[in-house]
Amino acid sequence: MKTSKYFAFFYLSMGFLPILFFLLLISAFYSYMYFKELLILIGLDLLVFSILGGLEIYKRSDKVKTNKLVKNYLSNVKNDGYNIVIAGFDIKSKEIKQKQYKVNINKYTSVLDAILDVKKAQDNTIALRYSCRMGICGSCGMVINGKPSLACETNFIKVAKNNVVTVEPMQAHPIVKDLVTDFKDFFDKHSSVEPHLIRENTKEQMTGKTPYDQKPDDTNKFLPYSYCIMCGLCNDACPVVNSNPEFLGPQALSQAYRYQMDSRDQSKDRLTAIDKLTGLWGCEFAGACSKACPKGVDPASAIQLLKMVSISDDLKGKNDGEKNEV
Ligand code: SF4
Ligand code: FES
Repeated sequence: MKTSKYFAFFYLSMGFLPILFFLLLISAFYSYMYFKELLILIGLDLLVFSILGGLEIYKRSDKVKTNKLVKNYLSNVKNDGYNIVIAGFDIKSKEIKQKQYKVNINKYTSVLDAILDVKKAQDNTIALRYSCRMGICGSCGMVINGKPSLACETNFIKVAKNNVVTVEPMQAHPIVKDLVTDFKDFFDKHSSVEPHLIRENTKEQMTGKTPYDQKPDDTNKFLPYSYCIMCGLCNDACPVVNSNPEFLGPQALSQAYRYQMDSRDQSKDRLTAIDKLTGLWGCEFAGACSKACPKGVDPASAIQLLKMVSISDDLKGKNDGEKNEV
């Protein structure tokens, strides 16, 4: 880097030499009378050159810094035996077969990147679902080293154990092929809690004249629960979902809470519909859902708060669910 700086300075100084020469010529006419002044003039010239040269060097050194970043990135590419084990599920034979692939990894590689590299260069039959590659669409959920995770948000090196990462399809959903699972039941449960605002007067929405005002405090009551990207990781981590497929699951229940707490919502049936053993009373508060959630939604707390809302409604005589029969 130092050499490039000196070179830049030399290069720039060369550019200014004709100007310096011209100034010296003019000064030479007066040199016999104004020798001191000539020295001052030369000094000033050199000062101006140094400032201009310095500015250019500063600009160039920025580029050198960027190049250094790229160099660092490339030097982090390691070929020292990272492996990924992918569990492929064959729908015909109903068998899961694990295959191991060698992968080139650098410190920024995500598990999704590694799978896509394998798919591109070694085995194009691998089936997986993904879209945004940035933790937004929620479609790349899978079990990575035993933990339900988003493949695009999981750093390969950070989760690798003995340089190996294992990926499997999610367990709480029927497997379609390899890492792709069927989310129909998941979305059915989600829709069953009516995850939208319900108003008594449905016609007001058509007029466009009714603003749904809300104070910041009211928004804060449900805001953290509205960050759900429907990835299904919470359901996959939940021991109740995995032992009782009828259970609505943390995703649907947390969304029920999100809309139940919205000051603009006027639903009378949502809470009653989930007030049952396969609904909010099925939750055993294991907390695995909140640990698995990549968006910090905390479905476990939403369900406990929903239980409190239900009890309070009961005390006020508003609710007639099944929990009293438990
Ligand atoms: S609550 Fe979290 S883990 Fe569950 S579906 Fe939503 S974003 Fe995914
Ligand atoms: S690809 Fe969209 S969340 Fe991972």
